[in-house]
Amino acid sequence: MKNFEIELKEAGKIIEKALDFYIPKSNEYPQKIHEAMRYSTFNGGKRIRPVLTMKAAELFGLQGEKVIPTACGIEMIHTYSLIHDDLPIMDNDDFRRGKPTCHKVFGDAIALLAGDALLTLAFNTIVKNAQIEGISMQAVIDVIGRISRASGSLGMIGGQTVDILSQGVSIDEKTLFYMDYHKTGCLIQASLWAGARLAEAPASDLNKLDIFGEKIGLIFQIVDDLLDICGDEKKLGKPVGSDVRNKKSTFPSVYGYENSVKLIKDLSEEAKEIILEFKNGEFFVQLVDFLVERQY
Ligand code: IPE
Ligand code: IPE
Ligand code: MG
Ligand code: MG
Ligand code: MG
Repeated sequence: MKNFEIELKEAGKIIEKALDFYIPKSNEYPQKIHEAMRYSTFNGGKRIRPVLTMKAAELFGLQGEKVIPTACGIEMIHTYSLIHDDLPIMDNDDFRRGKPTCHKVFGDAIALLAGDALLTLAFNTIVKNAQIEGISMQAVIDVIGRISRASGSLGMIGGQTVDILSQGVSIDEKTLFYMDYHKTGCLIQASLWAGARLAEAPASDLNKLDIFGEKIGLIFQIVDDLLDICGDEKKLGKPVGSDVRNKKSTFPSVYGYENSVKLIKDLSEEAKEIILEFKNGEFFVQLVDFLVERQY
């Protein structure tokens, strides 16, 4: 394993320990909902988004540990989005993070509620960042504003809506870019922004980081679309061929396979150029390579 992947795994472990602390225990009444929330949260997630929050804070001189509540909240939102995304009324997928999906184990209704509960718990957890020494109340308020916007109908849910409405129909490139940037890019971008904002990064740097975030967010979803065609189910922990089965409009289907590969290359060069403007941005340079080459 490369150094970067070891670093990612180590930061991911810190996040998992904190998630275990923030999510009610399985023996807490009503047990079923907590079991479902925990089932989908633990084992197998790469924890990219919360690690981005921690590393973005570090980029501006704040210890990653100081932003853990926010990082955990973001991972909860991401996990909720996956539970709902897999439901029979959405992508109807049976495997996620190497295990049967939440609704396969707990039924559709409990899976729906587990998603709802993770989304609400996310903000209850992010608020706790205000109790951490050295963190300003205004920064926490700004972060809540940003993350809620990035997750809603002007962000992730907007993208998911276009994804659903684009099944079995042909869409133009503008719609494709809107869809992928919103359903995946917005939360990735907000993960970076949140860490940097809590570290009191200046506005000009936050804007620069947003441009970087938009590019890696797009890379992330284009690679996800390609892996759905040529990935290895065992490594991915989720089924390949789901997009074709669902007649999804994806980067390979709308923009073309070769063009998508070329776009990933261009975006990754642009992203690196931006992040190299920061001192100590080495982690993020390696992150770009990891996102381009990832097999899981
Ligand atoms: C999968 O996200 C869903 C997309 C937004 C493409 P990840 O690939 O980050 O999933 P986990 O968290 O590692 O399982
Ligand atoms: C999911 O996109 C994006 C969100 C969950 C917001 P996909 O539907 O392509 O993700 P996978 O492939 O199921 O992980
Ligand atoms: Mg989907
Ligand atoms: Mg899906
Ligand atoms: Mg996919």
